[in-house]
Amino acid sequence: MIGVFDSGLGGLTVLRALVERYRTVDFVYLSDHAHVPYGNRPSEEIVDYTRVCVEDLFARGAKLALLGCNTATSVALRRLQQQWLPKSRWAGTHNVLGIVAPTVEAATQTPWAVASPQYPQKNNTDTIAVFGTARTIASGVYTEEIRKRCPKVTVVQQVCSELVGAIENKRPESELDALVREGVETLLTATNPTLPHRAILGCTHFPLVEHLFRKHLPPFTRILSQPEVVSDSFEDYLTRRPQYVNGDEDGTLTLLTTGDPLDVSNKARVFWHDVPAFAKA
Ligand code: DGL
Repeated sequence: MIGVFDSGLGGLTVLRALVERYRTVDFVYLSDHAHVPYGNRPSEEIVDYTRVCVEDLFARGAKLALLGCNTATSVALRRLQQQWLPKSRWAGTHNVLGIVAPTVEAATQTPWAVASPQYPQKNNTDTIAVFGTARTIASGVYTEEIRKRCPKVTVVQQVCSELVGAIENKRPESELDALVREGVETLLTATNPTLPHRAILGCTHFPLVEHLFRKHLPPFTRILSQPEVVSDSFEDYLTRRPQYVNGDEDGTLTLLTTGDPLDVSNKARVFWHDVPAFAKA
């Protein structure tokens, strides 16, 4: 069984891509609606909330937990992998993964197996735009991971702090459009006169408004679709580490929330129109 975690519903964009690809694997999704959004919270809180949710997923039988949230990945993943997991009762049998590394690997065309930059990556002078929550951008994780692989790439980041709440709360399209336009225009002012070669929508809510990013970004800029990129990378990971999936699974999908299951189930349809109902975690 694979666990997928998000502060809210954005992780459903990733979960859906995984469920469609792995029809015979059991998935359990946990949204921390008691504490969403994470994007403007202090780092320590994000680490604690994420750990509690990962423990819950493990206790329910998941051996692998995927943080389907850029904010949790940027702020908590390293701490959980390096400090908490090795001392926990799940050390050696369970693992936690995030979604920043696969996204950066795709954006820089540098797969996991490449430990140090090689030609042409080391001479790549592209400009990569990253849109995310305040906490993801402040962590600097995207810039750090991109520059490790492509030291000459220019990374320009842009906080879109109100977009997560606006998407979750089904705000009108005109409001979402204005928020995306504002973020893109600010970013393009920063990169001017260079146009970004690629744009990372570094928040799992943003695929829901990818059409608006497409509308406001220059046609020249390629947008990276995180659900697709993450499920490609996950396939590669599971091929190398098949121990995280049992051979006798039959494709069940369990959706849980720390919030109000009825309210969350209603909101979830924005992300996935025929998504099954959520239950209380
Ligand atoms: N969807 C989450 C992400 O990918 C952020 C939502 C939040 O702010 O809680 O960053």
